[in-house]
Amino acid sequence: MRRKIVAGNWKMNTTPAEGVELLKGVAALKSTAPSDVELIVGVPFTHLCGVKDAAAAAGIAVSAQNCADHESGAYTGEVSAKMIASLGAKYVILGHSERREYYGETSETLNKKMALAYANGLAPIYCVGEKLDEREAGKHFDVVRAQIEEVVFQLTPEQFGSLVIAYEPVWAIGTGKTATAEQAQEIHAFIRGVLAEKFGAAAADKTPILYGGSCKPSNAAEIFSKADVDGGLIGGASLVADDFIAIAKAF
Ligand code: PGA
Repeated sequence: MRRKIVAGNWKMNTTPAEGVELLKGVAALKSTAPSDVELIVGVPFTHLCGVKDAAAAAGIAVSAQNCADHESGAYTGEVSAKMIASLGAKYVILGHSERREYYGETSETLNKKMALAYANGLAPIYCVGEKLDEREAGKHFDVVRAQIEEVVFQLTPEQFGSLVIAYEPVWAIGTGKTATAEQAQEIHAFIRGVLAEKFGAAAADKTPILYGGSCKPSNAAEIFSKADVDGGLIGGASLVADDFIAIAKAF
């Protein structure tokens, strides 16, 4: 059985105090969600310290949304993987399409970030996904394959063992437009096949592959019902505790 995961990506939302309230709201409802679904909250750096204890007490894992591509030193404004790990985070979201698009993240940068994440004991949630024009041109398989080969294929088998992948079609993020469950299954199965080429079928079969992009309580059950969809990376709907938990209950 593969792990089932529902991960929130709060993006640049909430003050630290509001974040603690949101976390407490999720924690209060957690017992209503299936106990075999791992809940993760992906919070801004400024929130890591504040949510740490309440998250740990509730059995909710914490993720950062990015980390620096250097270990330490004169990199004004950056936050290192070591700093993140020292605040109790278990995960770091890397390669989100907003990072690739607005902050120029390339596979080269992401390889450095992945290495530093692992070196500091963080498990990456590595995001892949095509843009609308790429999907319309039928290039989505090639785009996603390249995003995997250039970054995930650089990992050791041991590192790969703790990786989480999130497939997020860029055209579905924050747009209200969701991939159909069939589209999600088709590309998730493709991703698992690509992973198997490098790491073997058994290892690929154990890797959680999450769907992201306008996932909400009303569509989560159908998407999660697909064989190769192991949960979701949730943006907008993760900012409402009831919705986030309702998505976890969709399994
Ligand atoms: P969304 O964002 O659920 O708001 O579409 C998903 C994501 O970007 O991780």
